[in-house]
Amino acid sequence: MTLIALLAGDGIGPEVVAEARRVLDATGLTLAYEEAPVGGAAYRAAGHPLPPETLALAARADAILFGAVGDPAYDSLERALRPEQAILGLRKALGLFANLRPATLFAGLEDASPLRPDIARRIDLVILRELTGDVYFGEKAQHRTTDGRREGYDIMSYAEDEVRRIATVGFEMAKRRERKLCSVDKANVLETSQLWRDVVIELSADYPEVALTHMYVDNAAMQMVRNPGQFDVIVTGNLFGDILSDQASMCAGSIGMLPSASLRTWSGDTGLYEPIHGSAPDIAGQGKANPCAAILSAAMMLRHSLGQEAAAARIEAAVAAAIAGGARTPDLGGSLATAAMGDAVLAALESG
Ligand code: NAI
Ligand code: MG
Repeated sequence: MTLIALLAGDGIGPEVVAEARRVLDATGLTLAYEEAPVGGAAYRAAGHPLPPETLALAARADAILFGAVGDPAYDSLERALRPEQAILGLRKALGLFANLRPATLFAGLEDASPLRPDIARRIDLVILRELTGDVYFGEKAQHRTTDGRREGYDIMSYAEDEVRRIATVGFEMAKRRERKLCSVDKANVLETSQLWRDVVIELSADYPEVALTHMYVDNAAMQMVRNPGQFDVIVTGNLFGDILSDQASMCAGSIGMLPSASLRTWSGDTGLYEPIHGSAPDIAGQGKANPCAAILSAAMMLRHSLGQEAAAARIEAAVAAAIAGGARTPDLGGSLATAAMGDAVLAALESG
């Protein structure tokens, strides 16, 4: 039987994962679920944000459906014990280096986007973010210099093979889409980025059918609001991808709409699926969270880890139909509660 690890986590994590679970159940697929604590919830229960039992469950599951981690109550803990370490630890331990973040403007959400409707309507892109390297995982420290000033540093680095494997996923994905790949870096000032660019160019010889372009990250941020329709697949490092995908999410209406998949192979392998947003402590426990990103993450899980393309497409169509029918949580300018938004998607699924 297919086993799904449900790691709901903190804040709005449990609220949105509950809706994703209801939608999965309504597909009629036979799935087994096992829950485990993660993040601040796990620190409270077990003294560590990623207890060994939780990691073991994630490792043996067919797929992981993840909510979010992060709790302001633990912001002053030493870094290794902070809730956010759980998601970094899972990505690293499971080797989930490829993070797919599709951003599409659902019909009807033009008003929720800060972009002009004619510009927003053209958003249909995937940000492919490298997830297990870069400045997030390099050596880091804070210390005092001999004259007493505080100093901090984080080493940014990429090895050639790390760049090659993420760029390969980028080219493969572009081949299946519009055959346009934009590699985003900061090669004009960063040595890491120069290596990144060199390796991507070398690899492009194997993919003559894909049109490769390069863009500096500052320009990419500007182009994302000026004309996001120009992008098909963007491949970039961990830090730049983190920032650009939050920006892309808002262009597509709300951070509450963007799902993600974290993979180590293209398909048919264990992956971790989560909304791109965090635990949103400002709205947690109030029924205000938009569950669509979590629901769409569950659809990605069916597609990439479980080989259930038809069910994945049905869920995506149901979210689109609910949105087209006017269902809106507060982040989209509406007033539906989290569960009522889940109901709207379920209703669309059943009538679709
Ligand atoms: P956030 O994504 O949690 O929230 C940013 C803003 O977007 C907030 O105003 C929030 O209310 C809103 N928002 C987020 N998701 C929403 C949804 N589904 N529906 C409606 N509104 C939504 O980012 P923030 O505030 O920077 O971080 C909060 C905590 O989450 C921190 O502890 C952070 O470290 C953690 N975090 C965890 C992530 C993960 O688990 N993968 C990713 C990003 C942040
Ligand atoms: Mg982020």
